[in-house]
Amino acid sequence: MKELLENAAWRSIRYLEGLDTRSAAPQPAAIARLAELDVDLPELPSAPEKVLSLLDEVGSPATMAMAGRRFFGFVIGGSLPVTLAANWLAGAWDQNAAYYNSTPGAAVIEQVALRWLLDLLKLPPGSGAGFVTGATMANFSALAAARHAVLQRAGWNVEANGLFGAPEVTVVVGDEVHVSMIKALGMLGFGRSRLVRVPVDGQGRMRADAFPKISGPAIVCLQAGNVNTGAFDPFPELIEQAHRAGAWVHVDGAFGLWAAAAPSREYLVQGMAEADSWGTDGHKWLNVPYDSGLAFVRDPDALRAAMAITAEYLPTTSPNRNPSDFTPELSRRGRGIEVWAALCGLGRQGVAELIERNCRQARRFAEGLQNAGFEILNSVVLNQVLVSFGDAETTQKVIASVQADGTCWCGGTVWQGQTAMRISVSSWATSDEDVERSLAAMLGAAK
Ligand SMILES: Cc1ncc(COP(=O)(O)O)c(C=O)c1O
Repeated sequence: MKELLENAAWRSIRYLEGLDTRSAAPQPAAIARLAELDVDLPELPSAPEKVLSLLDEVGSPATMAMAGRRFFGFVIGGSLPVTLAANWLAGAWDQNAAYYNSTPGAAVIEQVALRWLLDLLKLPPGSGAGFVTGATMANFSALAAARHAVLQRAGWNVEANGLFGAPEVTVVVGDEVHVSMIKALGMLGFGRSRLVRVPVDGQGRMRADAFPKISGPAIVCLQAGNVNTGAFDPFPELIEQAHRAGAWVHVDGAFGLWAAAAPSREYLVQGMAEADSWGTDGHKWLNVPYDSGLAFVRDPDALRAAMAITAEYLPTTSPNRNPSDFTPELSRRGRGIEVWAALCGLGRQGVAELIERNCRQARRFAEGLQNAGFEILNSVVLNQVLVSFGDAETTQKVIASVQADGTCWCGGTVWQGQTAMRISVSSWATSDEDVERSLAAMLGAAK
């Protein structure tokens, strides 16, 4: 076992070190080689070293360099070295993080991480939280708590009776809501097409003057960090209006919630902590490995009511926090361990520095592209930049050439009818020199 694990560590290190000199996207030949893995189910065992070497030799070159320094697609944070190391150690522990009694180690580490997160993100102390797979599931979990609470206030027990015959719940979203929120709301039985959509401004912020009149059980979904522009909804006005109508307010802050940890960006989340629940990712801006999301709920009992399960053979309520009382999953890995490692390794100042640096780097991209005559479509308040290189066809061509060049990787989007290249700076590993190198590659592709 020792040799195999040392071999895996050595291959991983070689992979990570090689990212700097390889193309950000896998080469077509590497993708074609994946066919070598597409064989019939082996009848006989193989030597572990052979399995590992096949995975590395065929699998590694076919990966996208998301862990590298110049990957600016989607919103993808690299893994801080300490979080990858913690991930390896936690993998060796192989804990089922469902219950305190079954794993005090994982349970306590997650509880400490939760307390630190609430402090860092300036959310109400004492809020409940679930360590889930990503923001989609974080939003799903928090919205399940919302569904419980608003229906309970209307005299309906949704966990016992479901939604058939339940009082109607009005669900309000902004017109630029993230698609995964629509999916989460659909999975909760709210109906993807019966959501009340509120008009937004040119940055994708919900317009407070267009907020609908609502009454009865209601959930209002706001956004901290639009996936295209990085914009934030105007929380103070919207939360006040929603609460006046008796609604539960949820904030999707997949990456934007982290603005709360950076002094120069904190103004963006002003008033956000007045909401009732929040969803975010660890695997985006905290730079922990996949998969890691966090659901925070001001009233922990609402989250527990939506998520806890009981059975004779399972440990009953204990004075200690049982992680599975707050997540959709029963058995799961202790993903909070990497969150703890990130926070312990960076400290408050390190997190602030990471967020501030990426925001500064995003502004540098915008400035460099604008100086070269290209149009920046968003106001660069966070880590997202939208650039147009001309008409849709020209912009698509530039995106294809940036991707083919391989110095860096950016994807495309359509923002309110305009085709754009989207740059998301979200990794601890990106240096200022990487930004300059990538900028030069982008300008070269746009010539
Ligand atoms: C604003 C927003 N919400 C939710 C999500 C979904 O996050 P995940 O893919 O981690 O589930 C994303 C992903 O990019 C996002 O940007």
